Amino acid sequence: MSEAKRLAGEKAIDYVEDGMIVGVGTGSTVAYFIEALGRIKGRIAGAVSSSEQSTKRLKELGIEVLDANAAGPLKLYVDGADECDPHKRLIKGGGAALTREKIIAEASETFVCIIDPAKQVPVLGRFPLPVEVIPMARSLVARRILALTGGQPVWRQGVVTDNGNWILDVHNLSITDPVAMETELNQIPGVVSVGLFARRPADIVIVGGEPPRVL
Ligand code: 5RP
Repeated sequence: MSEAKRLAGEKAIDYVEDGMIVGVGTGSTVAYFIEALGRIKGRIAGAVSSSEQSTKRLKELGIEVLDANAAGPLKLYVDGADECDPHKRLIKGGGAALTREKIIAEASETFVCIIDPAKQVPVLGRFPLPVEVIPMARSLVARRILALTGGQPVWRQGVVTDNGNWILDVHNLSITDPVAMETELNQIPGVVSVGLFARRPADIVIVGGEPPRVL
């Protein structure tokens, strides 16, 4: 499967234009994009990163990492996903970086999502939905999510996000209206971000393969 991830990550370089500040996601598929970005680093002005993990590798490759506030609106964001439906709506957050990923997606004109074929699903929800929560609200949020969705929230114990928060993974969902669920779960006090990218879906999806498919 990593070959499909590599092909998707390298294809995303087609969307990088000279002088750009590139929004960079997190994960094993994006890792291939970062390596490819390193090979053309002279052409770009820098990157805005969605995680400490991606920041570390970008800096090792000699790519300047800029603060999101200083960079302002971005033209391009490249990131992976845990699931992608036919409308380019996503589940993200398997790597616990969903909040910063959502901020960069929102700030970007074009969101290019890079996936391997196994991530394509007809309906979101087979992959447990990550929700980042303020630690003191973990139990309250879990109870509310159970009542609202019927899904089973499981605390991802031992994981602390880059923002100092915790993750609940919600199992056994079939998300037929992802915009409504994202909106509803966002209202629960203590929820920092919901790993549904439906209100702001991807614009372009690259499915890794020989050749890669662009949707
Ligand atoms: C991290 C993410 C990743 O994009 C998602 O988990 C996919 O990861 P990978 O490319 O390793 O399969 O949302 O929070």
